[in-house]
Amino acid sequence: MTENKISLYLWPGQTHFGFGAAALAGETARSLAATAVFILADPGVVQAGLLATIADSLAAAGLPTVIYDQVVPNPSIASVEVAAAAFRASGANVQIGVGGGSGLDTTKAVKLLAGGPPDALIWEYATMLGNEKRPYPSPAAMPPTIAIPTTAGTGAEVTPWAVLTHPEKQMKFSVGGATTIPDVALVDPELTLTLPARLTAATGMDALSHLIEAYVSTNHNPVLDPMILYGIELVGRSLRTAVARGNNRQARSDMLQASMIGGIAISSKWLGACHSLAHPLSSLADMHHGLACGMMLPHQMWYSHVGALERYAAVAEALMPGDVCRSVREQAQGAVTAVHNLLTDIDLPTCLRDAGVSEDLISALAKAAITDLNWWTNPRAVSEDVMADLYQQAW
Ligand SMILES: [Fe+2]
Repeated sequence: MTENKISLYLWPGQTHFGFGAAALAGETARSLAATAVFILADPGVVQAGLLATIADSLAAAGLPTVIYDQVVPNPSIASVEVAAAAFRASGANVQIGVGGGSGLDTTKAVKLLAGGPPDALIWEYATMLGNEKRPYPSPAAMPPTIAIPTTAGTGAEVTPWAVLTHPEKQMKFSVGGATTIPDVALVDPELTLTLPARLTAATGMDALSHLIEAYVSTNHNPVLDPMILYGIELVGRSLRTAVARGNNRQARSDMLQASMIGGIAISSKWLGACHSLAHPLSSLADMHHGLACGMMLPHQMWYSHVGALERYAAVAEALMPGDVCRSVREQAQGAVTAVHNLLTDIDLPTCLRDAGVSEDLISALAKAAITDLNWWTNPRAVSEDVMADLYQQAW
């Protein structure tokens, strides 16, 4: 790695981690000068009773609260613009996002829209528009934002971006930057104890894909490396237990910590081709993001490992300590086997065919994957043909 390269680190906002952290909502909102609070969540989060602790804490702090429960999975342009209009109409000056990736991404999109002119459209802020995108509002114009995750996967409580769906273009795109990182994250494993096994498995693979893609990324951020390996170790140690016995508090805490570390890691080191391959599976085949990442990860790792042998060897050592191999190359290949075994152990499908994806879709998936720029930091170069080959192997 070149010695004179400048490393960019995007750190999270103030972060409270541990059982009971959600009960800090009231005093945290007060510290952000809240006069009224807007809570965003999806109907499932509300029905599961996950807002109770947060609402009690806000009531105890004497803060009026408006609950917006219309967050949708894979949030679309229209859905976040409706949420932003509801925020403006609510009279609140602080927002709290509660949920998985969709809830927290909607919250970050609202932060951006609410800070900009009323006629601004979310697509105009897309990072892929480069210099053509609308200038971002100043931090002071955007409402202070608290993020409270209810799944251990996206790490969205500490990342800058919102990943949104463009229905007409049938693609995912991101908005956000350093100023849209939530001001405060309340990261409470208690809220993940009732997450169903299948969702625990899929979101856990999203977290693992963030950690591995960040660790082998071509971005140079050495300060983060030991922390990322620790996150991978936590997944190797606890994802199986979290899926098998959801009420295991240590496993839930480990997975939420791993997810948070993954979020911190990708904020600076970005991702890789696995996420470029996963996004079209959501936008064209409606697949859960974590499941898509999990299924594509071993194939992307096998293709990419020759570009970062020592890094993948370290991944193997973190994921399955004590599994000693004879050479760095064998150890790197062992990382692929370890991920495949994990997928099988947590009962996720390993073939796109078994997940209901039509083989006819592969060329359209590959076309979309190469336009998804996450592969820029992949340790081995890719092309549309490579993407098609990887989908074919996964099929
Ligand atoms: Fe992801």
